Amino acid sequence: MARPRVLSGIQPTADSFHLGNYLGAVRQWVPMQETHDAFYCVVDLHAITVPTDPADLRRRTRVAAAQLFAAGLDPERSTVFVQSHVRQHSELAWILICLTGMGEAGRMTQFKDKAAKFGESAASVGLFTYPILQAADILLYQADSVPVGADQKQHLELTRDLAQRFNHRYGELFTLPAPYIPKEVEKITDLQDPTAKMSKSSSSPAGILDLLDQPGPLRKKVMRAVTDTGSEVLFDEENKPGVSNLLRIQSALTGTPIPELVARYEGQGYGTFKKDVAEAVVETFTPIRERTEKLLADEAELDRLLAIGGRRAREVAEETMERVRDKVGF
Ligand code: ADP
Ligand code: NA
Repeated sequence: MARPRVLSGIQPTADSFHLGNYLGAVRQWVPMQETHDAFYCVVDLHAITVPTDPADLRRRTRVAAAQLFAAGLDPERSTVFVQSHVRQHSELAWILICLTGMGEAGRMTQFKDKAAKFGESAASVGLFTYPILQAADILLYQADSVPVGADQKQHLELTRDLAQRFNHRYGELFTLPAPYIPKEVEKITDLQDPTAKMSKSSSSPAGILDLLDQPGPLRKKVMRAVTDTGSEVLFDEENKPGVSNLLRIQSALTGTPIPELVARYEGQGYGTFKKDVAEAVVETFTPIRERTEKLLADEAELDRLLAIGGRRAREVAEETMERVRDKVGF
């Protein structure tokens, strides 16, 4: 039996992925290469839904792709590509936009959140139709499942509705994708504000552990992480969100269950604990950073890897689009 197909994307909107992106997305993608026919894309078309400098976009797209390979995605075992290298994404998005009701699109809550930053009337129509482009990303490859966090559930429902509507109006074509909930999506919080999620839009870089940070800054950020008054290493999200976050990080990186970590640091205070968390981060990030730097220094090699994925993605996407065009009447 063919392995189920899965599709996932990540935006090239920063010069490095952070620990949240790594644990919540990138790291989960690696083992899925063994169990799924996996398609992973750097979604640069999504990135321009907010004003984006072309040089930044070009650089960040390459850095993102290099980090994916460096973190363990294998172009022989999965299809890793850049969204804009496959024109069919835009083409299918237009057709799906024409199938989406204004009211239906208006109910997408993520647009309201994202647009609130600069005012709804200043937001682009692209930001408004962002979930429809996402639907196109998924349907183009006839993905059976899509790994989704809680914030993406609504978008996956829209994708399923659009697939069903297309199939009903034009004839059976699209696979309805099911949500795939990875075993445990770690919610990593900001080191300086443990009540907010670690995010590239955080106010202070001291709160974010970047995959491409050098060991020095990584250690410094962990050692200066906001903890709580008291000195006991306990998992208590309510009263010790900072310590709990560090425990979650160390557990995720070392595979040691949290209760075991709590027992290990009993009576030891925060110092030793933080030092160990810092080492776990440095040990995980350093080889990935070194491989990323090597790939970025060898433009031809990165181009070659992306060409492999682009070719395979275009083949599958074009197969779908030929059928779509025919059904729509083009
Ligand atoms: P950001 O919040 O920095 O803008 P994105 O929204 O681009 O990051 O997230 C890309 C991926 O990384 C998503 O799959 C998301 O679930 C995951 N992710 C981002 N931040 C975190 C976090 N703090 N903890 C866990 N996963 C995260
Ligand atoms: Na985000």
